[in-house]
Amino acid sequence: MAAVTLLKGRRVVLGVTGSIAVYKSVDLASKLTQAGALVDVVMTEAARQFITPLTFQAVTGRPVYTDLWAADSTGGLPTHIAHVGLGEGADLLLIAPATAHTLAKLAHGLADDLLTVTALAVRCPVLVAPAMDGGMYAHPAVQANLKLLIERGIELIPPEHGRFASGLEGVGRLPETPALMGAVRQVLGQRFGGLAGRRVVVTAGGTQEPLDPVRYITNRSSGKQGYAIAQAAQDAGAHVTLITTAALSSPFGVEVVPVGSADEMLRAVLTYSRGADALVMAAAVADFRAKDVSQHKIKKKDDSDGLTLELVRNPDILAEVARVREADPAAGPRVVVGFAAESQDLLDNAQKKLERKRLDLIVANDISASDAGFAVETNRVVLLSPDSGREELPLMGKSEVAELLVNRLAGLLGG
Ligand code: C5P
Repeated sequence: MAAVTLLKGRRVVLGVTGSIAVYKSVDLASKLTQAGALVDVVMTEAARQFITPLTFQAVTGRPVYTDLWAADSTGGLPTHIAHVGLGEGADLLLIAPATAHTLAKLAHGLADDLLTVTALAVRCPVLVAPAMDGGMYAHPAVQANLKLLIERGIELIPPEHGRFASGLEGVGRLPETPALMGAVRQVLGQRFGGLAGRRVVVTAGGTQEPLDPVRYITNRSSGKQGYAIAQAAQDAGAHVTLITTAALSSPFGVEVVPVGSADEMLRAVLTYSRGADALVMAAAVADFRAKDVSQHKIKKKDDSDGLTLELVRNPDILAEVARVREADPAAGPRVVVGFAAESQDLLDNAQKKLERKRLDLIVANDISASDAGFAVETNRVVLLSPDSGREELPLMGKSEVAELLVNRLAGLLGG
């Protein structure tokens, strides 16, 4: 797990209660730590029946707290007000797994151990990830407690359907680490991000222009840069819609709209970018499509060695968006960002596109370099905008490019 800017230096209090799902919390604590968070684990007595504090201490590199009464380093804080000490300065309290018993205590303000006392003392967002066996999660008592907690502003990571340790099946399993990490990023992004409350639409991948039911024409775009932008905008607290042709794993919380052809992408972009704060067109849209799409698979012919395809121009999505904005600025996205992937005359071509497509910002990248552009993990880009000229950036990871772009976007939106 690489460092995540949003998580760097953030103080996460991880409450762990007595469920067999604690084995997943160890991985979560490790991934949060690797991502740069400072993770203070608080374990209930029941949690310690499953796993020892040493395990969490080993993965977080920090003391683990277990005892409300101890006033030293043997499981308490070096203070007589441990719960306040833990809660102070915490950016997030995440309780994963949260048992039915702990949820009931939280709902009713009971505070008989370090975790529940801390939960009353914190002023940061509280996220709970229930985990329980059999039909316990569906029990009206559990549901009523959860309802109370949600009404009070506590955020829920819903449990998943699956097989329990008992062999029964149902809803109650703790989600895996990526979903838990995603929920943490979403809550922190909405609290600290420069795009909190904004709606951002991102496109990704090369469009697929069908020839017949089994074949299509596409290009070498992997969608990685677009997905990184969607993740960065999500980390910045935006509501993100990702219109994509790629099948990469989607960032948690992002609304994914799968499309194939340029025509499908155009329709989706016009629908979802209506009234949005920003549109980032990172997709590599094919300029041409087959004039006629064969209803049946095109067959080889005995009397011919080749095949001639007639292609026609695809619509220019950004030009259509510009038309919508011109006709009614409120109907289009407020800020539009385009990409220029070029193999020659990079800056001249990008400048022309910036003007022709009426963009607020264009990201130009030289796809002839082996360490930038399609498929690779890095990119070297130049940002061009109508007012602030050119910003040449060094070789960076695609996530870093995405973060920088999202910062510029927040600036353009006045965030
Ligand atoms: O014209 P060109 O393809 O080089 O421009 C690249 C930019 O325009 C990208 O942001 C791409 O997503 C967008 N584009 C578009 N519709 C097309 C072709 C490209 O919106 N038909």
